[in-house]
Amino acid sequence: MSKSILVTGGAGYIGSHTVLQLLQGGFRVVVVDNLDNSSDIAIKRVAELAGEFGKNLSSQKIDLRDKDALTKIFSSTNFDAVIHFAGLKAVGESVQKPLHYYNNNLIGTITLLEVMAAHGCKKLVFSSSATVYGWPKEVPCTEESPLFAMNPYGRTKLIIEDICRDIQRGDPDWKIILLKYFNPVGAHSSGYIGEDPRGIPNNLMPFIQQVAVGRRPALTVYGTDYPTKDGTGVRDYIHVVDLADGHIAALQKLFEDSNIGCEVYNLGTGKGTSVLEMVAAFEKASGKKIPLVMAGRRPGDAAIVYASTAKAEKELKWKTNYGIEEMCRDQWNWASKNPYGYCGLPDNSN
Ligand code: NAD
Ligand code: WQD
Repeated sequence: MSKSILVTGGAGYIGSHTVLQLLQGGFRVVVVDNLDNSSDIAIKRVAELAGEFGKNLSSQKIDLRDKDALTKIFSSTNFDAVIHFAGLKAVGESVQKPLHYYNNNLIGTITLLEVMAAHGCKKLVFSSSATVYGWPKEVPCTEESPLFAMNPYGRTKLIIEDICRDIQRGDPDWKIILLKYFNPVGAHSSGYIGEDPRGIPNNLMPFIQQVAVGRRPALTVYGTDYPTKDGTGVRDYIHVVDLADGHIAALQKLFEDSNIGCEVYNLGTGKGTSVLEMVAAFEKASGKKIPLVMAGRRPGDAAIVYASTAKAEKELKWKTNYGIEEMCRDQWNWASKNPYGYCGLPDNSN
C-alpha cells in the first residue's frame, strides 16, 4: 500500500517540484494551498508530468489557519506524514508587515500541528531556511552553527523550529525533520513547472530570468566590495529538483529510523558561487546578455553563505546531482517557455 503524504504549500515553487518527485516515487499526495503566492496551473502541470501517477494527486484550496477545513482533510485521509512548505517568504515584506508574517506562518503552523496531533499523524518535514544562520562568522554553515534571525521572516522559522523541538520533547511519538534550504534555483527539466514570483522578484535568479526575457532592463548587483573573489555576494545555489529529492530522503529517514526525534539537516551543495559567476553562467546557458547596474550592498545581506553537506550526505544518504550549469540551463528552459509564468500574460501589477 503506498504511503499518503499531505503537502502544505504544494502549489508553490519548491512544493510543486517535490510533489512531482513524490508522485514519481509512488506516494499518494494531497496538496493544501491557499494559492496566495501560486497558481493551480502548477498543480495541473505536475499531474500531467507525473503521467499515470497523476491519479494519485489531489489538491484543495485551503488556508492552513482554517482549522475546520484542515480537520476535514485529516478526517478523510490517514496521512503517513506531512511536508510543510506553506508560508510567506519575502524578507523585505516581512520587515514591512511583521504581524502578517507572524500570523500566517506561526498560526498556520500551530493549527497544522494541532490537527496533526489530534489525528495521530506525528511525522513532519518542515521547510526551514539557511536564513537562520544569520551572518555566519564561519563557513561552511554546519547544523551546529549559531542561529540568528535577521528579520521577522527568519524569526518565524526559528520560532517554528523551537516549537517542533518542544512538541517532540513533550511527546516522543513525534518524528520531525527540519530542513534548512540554501538558495533554491532552476526548474524541472521539462520547462513545464518553475518559479513564478508575484511582483518584482526579490531573489537573484528570478530577477536575472526576467531581464533575459525582456521584462526588466537590467540586474542591479547589490554590493561589489564584499571580501569575496570578485567583490559580490557568495551563496550556495541548489537545483530545485535536488532539493525536492532531499524531501524524499527525509521522509525515508522518518519512516525507517525509529530513533529519530527532531533532527535538522542542511540542504545545499557545499559550493559557493558569486553573483557575477551566476550571471556569467546564465548568460552562457541562455545566450542572452544580462545588463548590470553596480550598486551598494542590500541591507541585511551576508557576504558569504554556503552549507556543510556532510550530515545530510551521511544520515539521509542524499547528495546533489546538479551544478550551476544545469541550474541555469533549466532556469532558462522554464523562462523561455513561460516568460510570464503560469498566467502567460504580462501582469500589470509588476
Ligand atoms: P512559495 O511561495 O512558492 O510556496 C509557498 C506556498 O505556500 C505558496 O503556494 C502559498 O500560496 C502557500 N501558502 C502560504 N501561506 C499559506 C497558508 N496560510 N495556507 C495555505 N497555503 C499557504 O515558496 P517556496 O519558495 O516554494 O518556499 C516553500 C517553503 O520553503 C517556504 O516555507 C519558504 O519559507 C521555505 N524556503 C524557501 C526558500 C527559497 O528561497 N525559495 C529558501 C528557504 C526556505
Ligand atoms: C543572492 C545574492 C544578493 C538580487 C534569500 C532569503 C533567504 C532564503 C533564500 C528563504 C545576494 C544578490 C540579489 C538582486 C543581487 N529564502 N542579489 N541583485 O539573500 O541569499 O537569500 O533567499 O528562506 O531567507 O534571504 O538570496 O537570491 O535574494 O540573493 O545582486 O536583484 O544575489 O545581494 O548576494 P539570499 P537572493
